[in-house]
Amino acid sequence: MAVVKLEGGTKAIASPAEVREYLDAIGIEYEQWSHDQPLPEDASQDEVLGAYSGPIEKLKERGGYTTADVIVMNPRTPGLDEMLAKFNKEHWHDEDEIRFTISGHGIFHIHPREGPVVTVEVSGGDLIRIPRMTRHWFNLCEDRQIKAIRLFQNKSGWTPYYTGSGVDGNFQPVCMGPTYFTPH
Ligand SMILES: [Fe+2]
Repeated sequence: MAVVKLEGGTKAIASPAEVREYLDAIGIEYEQWSHDQPLPEDASQDEVLGAYSGPIEKLKERGGYTTADVIVMNPRTPGLDEMLAKFNKEHWHDEDEIRFTISGHGIFHIHPREGPVVTVEVSGGDLIRIPRMTRHWFNLCEDRQIKAIRLFQNKSGWTPYYTGSGVDGNFQPVCMGPTYFTPH
């Protein structure tokens, strides 16, 4: 379940309804989907896409997406740091960025046109849609692993346009997770 953090992590929202409401207000779509398909850890891309074909087809119809793939990142991924370096600087795309997390964790930072940067921690079952032209960047959490389905409107796939603003350098990619809400 996603956690939204505001004001440098000093304020957080963790209830699904509130997360959805907050993100909706800044133009980000968020939903929770079932992610309990019985798949082996080493399932192939086709097996994963097949297991989630129902929701994928629904999304394709809704958003005009033409292709889907599965992105898997973990500490054993060759070139993981180089891969992350493409995602973790502020950028935007001329198509929506839509990600359905199956397992693992990640952090999206969203930089709305107006208002402060918002941190969204995602984990299994979280579907997020970042509309085209929205400034954002992505990091992994401490466990450095995520498996997610990506959908694309343009068959040419993922093209980032970097802003070069350096704003990403002001935010530490620290995932708090549910422990953040444990009473002290
Ligand atoms: Fe992106």
